[in-house]
Amino acid sequence: MIKVGMIGAGVMGGVHAAAYGRLSNAQLTTICDLRPEKAQKLAGPGVKVVTDYHEILQDPEIDVVDVCLPTYLHKEVVLAAAAAGKHVFCEKPIALSVEDAEVMVQACKQAGVKLGIGQVVRFFPDYAKAKDLLASGRIGEPKVVRTSRGGAFPIWPEDKWYADYSKSGGPIVDLIIHDFDWLLWLFGPVKRVFAKSVSKQEQVGQEPLAHALVTLRFENGIIAHLEGSWAQPQGTPFSTSFEIAGTKGLYEYSKEQAMPLVLRTAQGEERAKSVPESPLALEPYTAQLKAFMEAIIHNSDVPVPGQEAINALQVALAACQSAKTGEVVWLGGGQND
Ligand SMILES: NC(=O)c1ccc[n+]([C@@H]2O[C@H](COP(=O)([O-])OP(=O)(O)OC[C@H]3O[C@@H](n4cnc5c(N)ncnc54)[C@H](O)[C@@H]3O)[C@@H](O)[C@H]2O)c1
Repeated sequence: MIKVGMIGAGVMGGVHAAAYGRLSNAQLTTICDLRPEKAQKLAGPGVKVVTDYHEILQDPEIDVVDVCLPTYLHKEVVLAAAAAGKHVFCEKPIALSVEDAEVMVQACKQAGVKLGIGQVVRFFPDYAKAKDLLASGRIGEPKVVRTSRGGAFPIWPEDKWYADYSKSGGPIVDLIIHDFDWLLWLFGPVKRVFAKSVSKQEQVGQEPLAHALVTLRFENGIIAHLEGSWAQPQGTPFSTSFEIAGTKGLYEYSKEQAMPLVLRTAQGEERAKSVPESPLALEPYTAQLKAFMEAIIHNSDVPVPGQEAINALQVALAACQSAKTGEVVWLGGGQND
C-alpha cells in the first residue's frame, strides 16, 4: 500500500482526498495546510493533520507527496519533495514558466523519483474516447477542432491567488492548459499559436473577468480553435465542449447536453449517454491517481510525465505572449503555413 502525504487542502485537495477514499492501492496518511481547519475537514479517521509541509517530507513512512497547492508554490515544494526522495504527484499547471518546470523535471529525474502531473482531462471518458475514435478512423482524418471550457472566476481561495496572474497564469495557463494538453496528446506538436484575450474589472478590488480565444496550427496541419472563460456570472455551472471534424465525420461533446456524445458519419448519427459506460468505472480524478500509483508499483511510465506537461505549458505561454503582442508565435521549426 502506497502511503501519501497531501499538501494543500483547498478545492483540489478536497477532490484528491475523496479520490484516495476510493483507491485500494494508496492510502492518504497526512494532510498539510497552513489553515489546519481545512485539512481537518478532509481528514478521515487516522489521517494526521500538519501545517508545515516539511513534516510530510521528513516522514519515512510516506512514499508519495501529492501537491495540491496554488500553482506559484509548485516548484518549491516539488523540489523539496524530490530532495527528500519522495515520488511526486503535482496538480496542473506544472509551473508558471518552462524554465521552472524543467528544473522540477530534472530534479525528480536526478533524485530517481517519479513525477506525474494532474492533466486530468485525458482521464475524462468523453475526452479519452476521442483518442480511440480517431485511431479507429471512423471520422477519417481529423482536420479542424474546437474546444471550449469555462465558467465563473475562481473566487474561492481566501487570498484570491487566481486573480494575481503572476501566481495563477490567468485563464490561458490555468484553464485552457487542459485542452492544450489533450490536443497535444491527440495530435502531436503545435507549430503556430495566435491568441486574443479580454479582461475587465467591474469594480476596484473585484476579480478581473477574463475570456480568451486561441488558434493553433499543428505540425500535421490540423487547425484548432480554443475558447476559455473566467467571465461568466458567479453560480454559472462550469461547462466544457469540443468538436473534432474529420474527412468522414464529426465527433461532438458537450457537458451541457443530457446526451453529450454524438457521432455523425455518412452512416448516420449515434448518440450515447456520457460514460461511465460501466457503473464500476472510476471518476477521472480517481482514475488519474490510481494510474499514477500503478506506475510506482510497477515501476512503469506515469500517465502524464513532466515533459508532456511542459509541452502544454509551452503552448499556453505562447498563447499568452500572442495575446499580449498581437503577433503569431511560432514553436519549433520553420515559419511558414
Ligand atoms: N485538475 C483540475 O481540474 C484543477 C482544478 C482546479 C485547480 N487545479 C489546480 O490545483 C492547484 C490548487 O488549486 P485550488 O483551487 O485547490 O487552490 P485552493 O486555494 O483552493 O487551495 C490551496 C490550499 O493550499 C493551502 N496553502 C497555501 N500555501 C500553503 C503552504 N505553504 N503550505 C500548506 N498549505 C498551503 C491554502 O491554505 C489552500 O487551502 C492549482 O495548481 C490549480 O491550478 C486543478
